[in-house]
Amino acid sequence: MNGFEINKIVASIILGVLLVFGVGKFTDFLFFVEKPAEPAYTVEAPVVKTVSSSGSSGAIDIAQLLSMGSIEHGQKVFKKCSACHVVAKGGKNKIGPVLYGVMGRKSGAISDYKYSKALIAHAKTWSYEEMNLYLIKPQAHIKGTKMAFAGLKSEKDRASVMLYMNSMSDKPIQNP
Ligand code: HEC
Repeated sequence: MNGFEINKIVASIILGVLLVFGVGKFTDFLFFVEKPAEPAYTVEAPVVKTVSSSGSSGAIDIAQLLSMGSIEHGQKVFKKCSACHVVAKGGKNKIGPVLYGVMGRKSGAISDYKYSKALIAHAKTWSYEEMNLYLIKPQAHIKGTKMAFAGLKSEKDRASVMLYMNSMSDKPIQNP
């Protein structure tokens, strides 16, 4: 192979490369189509209506929630609470206040327990609605509560533990 042939090979490679790129650019130019600013037609997403369990009020249906639970299951769920709470009659406060008779009681009502300011300010009665909201995620429902508990995700667990606490009372509240 002499120098001239090498030159030819190099030249043809360069030509090849130029052709590939050149044709690419050229076709870009040939087939350039201006895109319309607005799509010609839009597909409407179907509007999904969320079905709440109790019509328009947004409140949850407590009777339906409670029907998922049982006192027996609640007793088991309460093990998660018993690190901090006693629910037995005559029980002592631990990290959290004694919970005997808590359902239907005013929040923050145990006189020898030092509640957080947030819980005292909340000042509501522990109805099923209130308790359910608190137990889903305590810190979200009462910002600043010192109850360091993540919450009960399961509806069955919340329903059950509420039924169980209501059974641990001198005057249980009426179940809806
Ligand atoms: C890590 C400890 C801890 C755990 C676990 C815990 N709590 Fe509490 N709980 C507290 C503390 C502390 C308070 C006082 C909150 C405050 O003053 O803000 C409290 C307050 C409460 C109150 C308000 C009582 C009142 O007199 O107004 C209820 C009801 C309650 N807890 C229920 C539960 C239930 C039910 C569970 C289990 C599912 C549970 N807690 C798990 C620490 C705990």
